[in-house]
Amino acid sequence: MVEETENSIKINLKRVVDNSYDVVFGANIFPRIAREMKELKPGHKFVIITDSIVKELHGQALYAELKNQGLNVHMLSFKSGELQKIRETKKEIEDKMLQLNLGRDTVVLALGGGVVGDLAGFVAATYTRGIPYVQIPTTVLAQADSSIGGKTAVDHPNAKNMIGAFKQPIRVYVDVATIKTLNEDECKNGMAETIKHGIIHNKDFFDYLMNNINLLLERNPAALIHIAKQNCIIKGNIVEQDPHENGIRRILNYGHTVGHAIEKLSKYKLSHGKCVSIGMMAAGRIAIALKTGFTEEDLKMQGTLLKEFCLPLVIPAEISNESIIETTVLDKKTKDGMARYVLPSKIGAMCEFNKEWATFVDNNIVMDALNQTR
Ligand SMILES: NC(=O)c1ccc[n+]([C@@H]2O[C@H](COP(=O)([O-])OP(=O)(O)OC[C@H]3O[C@@H](n4cnc5c(N)ncnc54)[C@H](O)[C@@H]3O)[C@@H](O)[C@H]2O)c1
Ligand SMILES: [Zn+2]
Repeated sequence: MVEETENSIKINLKRVVDNSYDVVFGANIFPRIAREMKELKPGHKFVIITDSIVKELHGQALYAELKNQGLNVHMLSFKSGELQKIRETKKEIEDKMLQLNLGRDTVVLALGGGVVGDLAGFVAATYTRGIPYVQIPTTVLAQADSSIGGKTAVDHPNAKNMIGAFKQPIRVYVDVATIKTLNEDECKNGMAETIKHGIIHNKDFFDYLMNNINLLLERNPAALIHIAKQNCIIKGNIVEQDPHENGIRRILNYGHTVGHAIEKLSKYKLSHGKCVSIGMMAAGRIAIALKTGFTEEDLKMQGTLLKEFCLPLVIPAEISNESIIETTVLDKKTKDGMARYVLPSKIGAMCEFNKEWATFVDNNIVMDALNQTR
């Protein structure tokens, strides 16, 4: 009931929202996805949003499965790459969806890596004020990280992920068979977030990675399913506690303060995973300097595991410490114009910092850590 006082009224919109969703793991599960879309009927029309590379490798197959089930399905794609994760691409997709007369009864199937997931999720968040979307991640990074948690966004020339929305998918399908076609570099790139999950939340998982490097490098399906599932459990547990990143969710940004700065300064030529890898080395050194409990030995183990997956441990020579520090101020965790860092207390746990889970660090300490990361 609208409450009324003399010069104002109150619209009561308090409500309990259930955004829970299932994450399904398997290999070669496109037929299952199509079957379940038919059975669950989250909408009457489906639009696969993907990029130019994934469209050819996997998009046509998913399209055919959905058609086989007699579903009304379209497929839209954009040129692959981070440079396309921008408002202009979102607009193009929306215009095409409008031309196809897709209305509120449409479901977006985001098939691809993190770029597709972030962009297609953001389209779903705003198209006719919001339509459901399903994530079908096809990179190690997307299966480990970006498909869980409901963060969607596009980049702005000034900063990554600057314009976006929280929009939870209705379901996530992790098909590790799609990883077979991924190139070596992208595969290793995706391992950075996986290793991050071990460090921030689960020492056993970190040890599993350390002990199964070869299986992972061979892309053994069972090992890929195991790590995808553990990644999603770790990220899911953190997101459940803090869906909108007001506290503990910040720990997922381990390595990202310096990482995002390097990514931007490299003009996005250096991949996200590689930048996060370097960022974790710098953050680990800040943790040691601040005596959080994280030790030289921990840092060494972190470096060893990152190196096994050919992830870089040092800042590219052409990027100066000063430019990194300047750029970190644009980071999302910024408060009062100062960058904040999330720091480990050991492998498997992060510092609480009075429930803020992030702390300001003196520029001299950051400078020292950056110097050591060269
Ligand atoms: N939303 C989140 O919580 C979150 C978290 C982490 C990262 N991200 C975002 O994710 C993005 C990076 O994701 P990414 O590394 O997956 O990049 P990406 O989506 O650009 O994929 C990397 C490359 O691999 C290709 N590709 C994808 N799947 C393939 C397959 N199965 N076989 C062959 N090639 C394939 C793509 O076409 C692309 O060229 C960044 O924009 C980052 O900001 C988001
Ligand atoms: Zn990341």
